[in-house]
Amino acid sequence: MRRFTAIFMALSISAASLAAQTKTIGISTDKTDLVLQVAEDGRLYQAYFGEKLLNAEDLPVIPLKKVRAGNGTFNTRAREVCSCSGNEDYFSPALGMVHADGNRSTYLYFESMTQTSVPGGKRTDIILRDKVYPVEVVLHYEAYPQENVIVSWSDICHHEKGTVRLMEQNSPLVFVEAGSYYLTEFSGDWASEARMSTQELRFGKKIVDTKLGSRANIFCSPFFEVGLDAPAQEQAGTVLMGTVAWVGNWRYTLEIDNKNLLCVSAGINPTAADYELEAGECFSTPEFIFTLSQNGTGEASRDIHDWARRYRVKDGMGRRLSLLNNWENTYFSFDEPKLAACMDEAAKLGVDLFLLDDGWFGNGSDARNNDTSGLGDWEVNHAKLPHGVPGLVKAAEKAGVGFGIWIEPEMVNPKSALYRKHPDWVIHQQDRELYTYRNQLVLDMSNPKVQDYVFKVVDDLMKENPDIKFFKWDCNSPITNIYSPYEKQRQANLYVDHAKGVTAVMRRVAEKYPEVPIMLCSGGGGRCDYSSLRYFTEFWCSDNTDPVDRVYIQWSFSQFFPAKTMCAHVTSWNSQASVKFRTDVASMCKLGFDIGFKDMSDDELQYCRTAVQNWKRLNPAIMDGDQYRLVSPYETSHMAVNYVSKDKSSAVLFTYDIHPMYSEPRLNVKLQGLDPQARYRVVEINLMPGAKSSLSGDGQVYSGDYLMKVGLDALTGRQMNSRVIELIRQ
Ligand code: DGJ
Repeated sequence: MRRFTAIFMALSISAASLAAQTKTIGISTDKTDLVLQVAEDGRLYQAYFGEKLLNAEDLPVIPLKKVRAGNGTFNTRAREVCSCSGNEDYFSPALGMVHADGNRSTYLYFESMTQTSVPGGKRTDIILRDKVYPVEVVLHYEAYPQENVIVSWSDICHHEKGTVRLMEQNSPLVFVEAGSYYLTEFSGDWASEARMSTQELRFGKKIVDTKLGSRANIFCSPFFEVGLDAPAQEQAGTVLMGTVAWVGNWRYTLEIDNKNLLCVSAGINPTAADYELEAGECFSTPEFIFTLSQNGTGEASRDIHDWARRYRVKDGMGRRLSLLNNWENTYFSFDEPKLAACMDEAAKLGVDLFLLDDGWFGNGSDARNNDTSGLGDWEVNHAKLPHGVPGLVKAAEKAGVGFGIWIEPEMVNPKSALYRKHPDWVIHQQDRELYTYRNQLVLDMSNPKVQDYVFKVVDDLMKENPDIKFFKWDCNSPITNIYSPYEKQRQANLYVDHAKGVTAVMRRVAEKYPEVPIMLCSGGGGRCDYSSLRYFTEFWCSDNTDPVDRVYIQWSFSQFFPAKTMCAHVTSWNSQASVKFRTDVASMCKLGFDIGFKDMSDDELQYCRTAVQNWKRLNPAIMDGDQYRLVSPYETSHMAVNYVSKDKSSAVLFTYDIHPMYSEPRLNVKLQGLDPQARYRVVEINLMPGAKSSLSGDGQVYSGDYLMKVGLDALTGRQMNSRVIELIRQ
């Protein structure tokens, strides 16, 4: 039996009494140990990061492999967890500082440590101090034992006589030791987000970052997987999975030295952002959220999903609302009768909400009738909607659905009253040519007045319409031509202060309206980070709703996000694919529709209604259960995934045949996560009206053991064909 109390019995330990105590700090989950040690030189090093040791007594005896043992020993690979600029370390520093007097070296020494409980986990705070400069750095680690997730970040404070410049801003470093390392990264573009690609890492650095400021993740997502000794696999092998929680410019660096040691750092991209920190101010690095799995990415994802639902995402354990959006149905062209018809359609579909998208605001020549004007002027468009938003809320009520509304509050069109009134609220340098993205600019969220304005967009809507049931918060432009009149001489702080301002407003909204679900949207998947998701219930993975592309996109995002946070809508993209295929693909995530009845036959409509009911019934499995990725679209021409409710009473298997080859051999799909002793009835659902299942074994009862070992012959040779198979525990 492992005894945890052996390590740091006392909650707090001072430097003076340190010598008499073990110098080991254990940051542990049920599956992983991260062991730190204070070495003879008083600095803090990583002794171990790996599979959990059975005996806690073994942790303090792990020798530090590389220690700077004093005079005569010069070791450049010492695994110092908060190594700083200007020291002797080989690896790039976690923190880079220019002190007020211009000196660039910082050495941090252990001072004290406290461990406290946080919901679901244990928090460790370690205070480090420089001996020459009045600089204090507090390293924070939160370990969630059951979910095997560790969250780390650092706070930096100083009392120098002048400004300290932070050149590197990362959370504590993590060192990993293996024979070889394989990075899987997630990059892409608008409508092709998060494509997975794997490469072997060799000597030197691999950096993945963004410097777009807002809509930060258009081209790459803030998460990665590193397979140790082999590329990351779904069901086997050791894999480190990590993500940076920051809405702005993030960066992760994977650096291998000449002894093949891997150093992982995650934090802010310092490009044009060497932050100026005044005396008495504190700077927090973004959180680095990571997990180490000994059983592949599938287990790691399930652990992250559990952690996210329980401790991170807004209303993570709550119900999610299905909806009908009008964006692709009407675009900007609508009026009250047209929207009332959409609301009726929503009610007929059986979804919970009607979501009104872009185009409801702006008046006169600034009316938002296309994407060139009106953004920033959040007054309802009186010509289109004479009864205002209250009229729409009432109409939705009458139709029997909730009402949700789209906003993009951090942005402005130059063609708007807001821009003409407050050009100084906008990030851009007025002496330069205007450089817009989708005809818009980014409001300067470092400015508290702008933060108030953005908060008021939501607050005013809610005050006028307390019955609004949902928001979609969009963000379409990166920051261009960066300059802030508000920051004056502190321009270097803008990228960071802007991100902090965005986060502060998101927090304010969530605190005032904790019950209101909000979708994080950024022209598709341009925003998908665990900093924002504290304040958002879900995010829009991609504007690409072609179900074939979506299979890949959803497979990718599911590595890091639970299905209940991933919005997926049935649309008219790829009309070659059946409505059934499109709906079945969306049903493995948070289901919605963005399509008009004019684009569906009666049978298709009836099919969709049934699919909505089935999705709702299966919510305990799909939204709140465990997800098992079974067949990868990256490796085959199919995809299969099953979900099992936490009590294992309900389960569902989704299979998608994308583009099978003629006469291709097909393997049975072996389910996972079922109770092997239990018996489950296999029933194919989501069938088109009048269609009969061709699934062999449909209607039969099998043991969980059989379904997991023998499996079902569920894949087919048909193009863009799907099956939804319910497993009903007997
Ligand atoms: C981009 C979003 O991704 C779309 O869903 C839609 O809301 C448009 N913006 C509206 O302008």
